[in-house]
Amino acid sequence: MTPLNIPEWQSLERHYEDLKLLSMREQFVLDSGRFKRFSMQCSGLLLDYSKNRITADTMKKLVALADVVDIKGWAERMFSGEEINHTEGRAVLHTALRNRSNTPVIVDGEDVMPLINAVLVQMSQFCAKVHNGEWLGFSGKKITDIVNIGIGGSDLGPAMICDALEPYAVEGMSVHFVSNVDGTDLSTTLEKLNPATTLFVVASKTFTTQETLTNANSAREWFLEQGTQADVAKHFVAVSTNAKAVAEFGIDTANMFEIWDWVGGRYSLWSAIGLPIALYAGMDNFERLLDGAHEMDNHFRNQPLAENMPVIMALLGVWYINFHGAQTQAIVPYDHSLVRFPNHLQQVDMESNGKKVNNEGQRVSYKTGPVIWGTPGTNGQHAYFQLIHQGTQLIPVDFILPVNSHYPDCDHQSILLANGLAQSEALMKGKTAEEVRAELVQEGYQGAELDALLPHKVFSGNRPNNVLLFPKLTPEMLGKLVALYEHKVFVQGIIWNINPFDQWGVELGKQLAKVILPDLKSEGAIGLHDSSTTSLIELIRSLRN
Ligand code: F6P
Repeated sequence: MTPLNIPEWQSLERHYEDLKLLSMREQFVLDSGRFKRFSMQCSGLLLDYSKNRITADTMKKLVALADVVDIKGWAERMFSGEEINHTEGRAVLHTALRNRSNTPVIVDGEDVMPLINAVLVQMSQFCAKVHNGEWLGFSGKKITDIVNIGIGGSDLGPAMICDALEPYAVEGMSVHFVSNVDGTDLSTTLEKLNPATTLFVVASKTFTTQETLTNANSAREWFLEQGTQADVAKHFVAVSTNAKAVAEFGIDTANMFEIWDWVGGRYSLWSAIGLPIALYAGMDNFERLLDGAHEMDNHFRNQPLAENMPVIMALLGVWYINFHGAQTQAIVPYDHSLVRFPNHLQQVDMESNGKKVNNEGQRVSYKTGPVIWGTPGTNGQHAYFQLIHQGTQLIPVDFILPVNSHYPDCDHQSILLANGLAQSEALMKGKTAEEVRAELVQEGYQGAELDALLPHKVFSGNRPNNVLLFPKLTPEMLGKLVALYEHKVFVQGIIWNINPFDQWGVELGKQLAKVILPDLKSEGAIGLHDSSTTSLIELIRSLRN
């Protein structure tokens, strides 16, 4: 069923026409309670969504849309293990991985909580052994370096979390992430490492991913330059659903950490795919991460729609994408340790909602998932913010602001926060022609020179943004933040009537790469391709040394 035919959607279309000229600046002047009205908290995490093109009526209408598409019912179906990923015939249970209340979650008649808890125990025991030196490398030395070999969800989430939890790192432990099949990635990582003190975590849900297996094989060759085949077991462990392929690779399945098909790749950091996090930052901090995500799960599950943070963020996204024509969403963390947060969210959001066929298999006639992008502030301010302030596109921005730093900051944190708040305010307020004129006059401009400069200095403002503010980036807060965005994406997928949990769009390129690879490697006749691909293959063959 298309949302376009839902009366609540149509009511929003009319409302958009009425509200097109709404000035946020005026709304702030008219309503001193605007911040209070349009902000909410979830245990220490504040969402300020007052700087959006909304009125109380807009929010009522948006919430009515969420209600009529049955977000609450869908959430229950997900949490309780129904097969909501219908194109792959799977339940979607990343929430069970962090179900710290340990209530039963039934899949195919079986409670999955004991399975999850058993792997958590296995992870905990393994981390303890590595940390206390019971698990040693082949020459009897302690492990000092973890290398995670994985890609997509088996890389982005854990890599992002490890960056963010650097202040919590276990003493003497370093972590590295190798994902790209470009040999540069592996080589530049390994050249700094000693095989005797390095532990590889080969992370692949399927254990068939070409990039991961290629990197893992090369890593093993590198290791075997110093270690023996019998030593491999001490230096390679795996995370996967595929015990057979793990054994074939040569990893002892006693050192395999299981995941399940109901854990989607981009939602898997909460599973044993999070092993590098636990090895690097400690199992206790991995569990704190799960605790935080569980809190957000409870908030999402139990709060009414109008007071539900992921629902509100999802609805605002729909408001801009489907009614204001926004095509992208910027995520700008004012925390350098969240440098990879936008990258992780790219997969979470774009692999989930980058779809144009609805649940009934029909092509949709409305916009779905946006392009997600961003980098930490303040760097972004000196690069792409020009376009967000004065460009022709409407780009909603999420500002993510921790109040306190983990590091001694002198004045850094105040300057950082001042910049974040200033950008949020500037995007909303803008600068009118009158204000620019007064400024220019003060600076001594007049006449034609002033008139020529004036339009370049006007900021239209009225550019929407959210602020997510919290005391400090603890493991719990990080868990909450990631879960917030996961649920936001889920809600949007339901509103758009698409399946946010499959990713068939990544398959075609993989299939074609398998066909092109032998063409590149051989000297014989090239298979059937378009003339561009054939010519490029010929050129590559001729240029190869
Ligand atoms: O190609 C996309 C994808 O399937 C992602 O969804 C997944 O996270 C990634 O590849 C890695 O897959 P695997 O963990 O099976 O190696």
